[in-house]
Amino acid sequence: MNYKRNILITGGAGFIGSHVVRLFVNKYPEYRIVNLDKLTYAGNLANLTDIVNAPNYVFVRADICDFETVCGIFRTYGIDGVIHLAAESHVDRSIKDPFTFARTNVMGTLSLLQAAKVYWESLPERYGGKRFYHISTDEVYGALELTRPDGVRSDISAHMVYGDEFFRETTRYSPHSPYSASKASSDHFVRAFHDTYGMPSIVTNCSNNYGPYQFPEKLIPLFINNIRHNRPLPVYGRGENVRDWLYVEDHARAIDLIFHEGKVADTYNIGGFNEWKNIDLIKVIVKTTDRLLGHPEGYSDSLITFVTDRAGHDLRYAIDATKLHRELGWSPSLQFEEGIEKTVRWYLDNQAWVDNITSGEYEKYYEEMYGGRRG
Ligand code: NAD
Ligand code: DAU
Repeated sequence: MNYKRNILITGGAGFIGSHVVRLFVNKYPEYRIVNLDKLTYAGNLANLTDIVNAPNYVFVRADICDFETVCGIFRTYGIDGVIHLAAESHVDRSIKDPFTFARTNVMGTLSLLQAAKVYWESLPERYGGKRFYHISTDEVYGALELTRPDGVRSDISAHMVYGDEFFRETTRYSPHSPYSASKASSDHFVRAFHDTYGMPSIVTNCSNNYGPYQFPEKLIPLFINNIRHNRPLPVYGRGENVRDWLYVEDHARAIDLIFHEGKVADTYNIGGFNEWKNIDLIKVIVKTTDRLLGHPEGYSDSLITFVTDRAGHDLRYAIDATKLHRELGWSPSLQFEEGIEKTVRWYLDNQAWVDNITSGEYEKYYEEMYGGRRG
């Protein structure tokens, strides 16, 4: 079959990537979707069982750092669009092992850019009709102050906000963790490829995502699972840090819109207009999980345990996503109360998915399928 477009999605077996792959495979049967994923500890093909047999879906297990292999994928599938999500994504892991983050996030992105350049420059139309869309994070901007510690309405948001400043597309980069430093570096490479070679690139910087299929090392799925097992809930520091939460399907919708309608060489911030202090969010998770498990209110409150803070823990992230709303008409579709209820329900209804990861069973499956240890 001749496909209208051949799109390479990297990191499609991960949390956000699997939602993006699902959306594109289902919404665009006229596109061929090639999911390139190394299947590190964070990649899980169980995230995609519902679309695995779709005729327009192809999975390729590969490392984005393997330049020759990536070049081969561009040629084999005639790739004309890239949505790049593959990365090491967990801040705590980056503190313990920064090298892996530099390798995948910086060198891997560079390898992908160079492979796109080599392939697209070999075609008669060169960069015409091509897209290289890099998915990044709000963490590259650093940390904001908590100037309204009790939370009040602001002019840009009808929601609770904890400070007067917001991350805008013009905010200067100031990454603090090895993770955010590696993502900042990859963002710079993407922009440098546009400025130097004319690569038709777009970068977006998004706030914290939540929802189904998130690896249970991240705050929300970790805490839901710990409540289920009556285990302590480790709150870093005093739980005063603020994050801006967005339901993952709203991020996937934004990615779809920006991939098709975003301006080349531009940057868009994506966020939920939904700031929460960690401790307040944790109380909502505890309350919702207890209710859905049939526990009396307050049953798991004593599991909340304050532990040593994360090194270099950024105080507050808050995205101003008005540009994306103004220029492309995007806004989050889900109220947080609805999103968190759906999310807790999903993890409780899909305990086998979580248990398979926490028991390590899923690793054995990949070893049998692909041989050897995963990266
Ligand atoms: P994730 O850790 O759940 O998934 C990452 C995926 O990338 C996994 O499937 C993994 O196997 C794959 N991968 C890792 N190294 C690879 C390599 N060398 N070659 C090929 N594949 C590799 O991550 P996520 O939370 O879904 O994040 C996806 C992207 O979105 C990342 O670039 C991240 O920086 C960005 N982002 C995440 C959030 C968030 O809240 N999770 C917010 C903003 C931006
Ligand atoms: O802002 C976007 C970023 O959001 C993404 O770029 C990252 O890939 C993603 O992992 C996420 O980073 P965070 O560090 O904000 O997410 P995490 O779920 O690890 O932590 C959320 C907050 O909760 C943070 O302030 C640290 C705190 N925390 C986290 C864990 C895992 C705890 O207090 N206890 C915990 O056990």
